[in-house]
Amino acid sequence: MIIKIGHRGAMGYEPENTLISFKKALDLGVDMIELDVHLCQTGELVVIHDKKVNHTTNGQGQVIKKGLAELRLLDAGKGEKIPLLQEVFDLVKQRTKINIELKAKYTAKPVAQLIKKYVTEKGWTYNDFLVSSFFRPELKKLYHLNPEIKIGVLVEKFPFGFFKLAEKVKAVSIHFHKKLARPYLIKKTQQKGLKVFIYTLDNPEKIKKMKSLGIDGIFSNYPDRL
Ligand code: G3P
Ligand code: CA
Repeated sequence: MIIKIGHRGAMGYEPENTLISFKKALDLGVDMIELDVHLCQTGELVVIHDKKVNHTTNGQGQVIKKGLAELRLLDAGKGEKIPLLQEVFDLVKQRTKINIELKAKYTAKPVAQLIKKYVTEKGWTYNDFLVSSFFRPELKKLYHLNPEIKIGVLVEKFPFGFFKLAEKVKAVSIHFHKKLARPYLIKKTQQKGLKVFIYTLDNPEKIKKMKSLGIDGIFSNYPDRL
């Protein structure tokens, strides 16, 4: 069975990276939700895709230059606020796994601390989380801070070099852009004991074709189509 991953929650149905989007993904029975994290000026981890708030809220400017109070005044769609990472954890309550994508520098440390807190104080397990990033130094930092945290390496384009990194940080999965989903690469990755996840697929025909390649998981904005 393929691992169904709700991209930014279920952003085909609800505003991306909001609590209602994650709720929708849970209702659709995903195996994992994916979300993006940035740090804001006051040091909290907030769930938003871009460096700037412009594209997904009614505000303007960089997330890192805004304090939490200011960010919380913004409308992230349908009246939703930009969530804190811990609010998503509290909503999910271990009902699905959480793939946290580190979108900015200096996010590895606070993410590692928050995961450890949920594991040691709230009964979660390291299996409930998967941390990924395009920022290789952040993944290395995360591994050194806490090697128990599961890591996925994001790969968008050539040249690669990701197998070396995957080995260094003891990654469990490689998350390939769909244009890189080639049979030889899928096979090579799986032979190394790594899972292959592909992002982001919404077209039912393409989903069917991708599944026939024997991959392990798919990210979709419409996870019910998986
Ligand atoms: O983690 C998979 C995918 O979300 C990476 O691309 O731009 O949607 O964050 P992006
Ligand atoms: Ca993402």
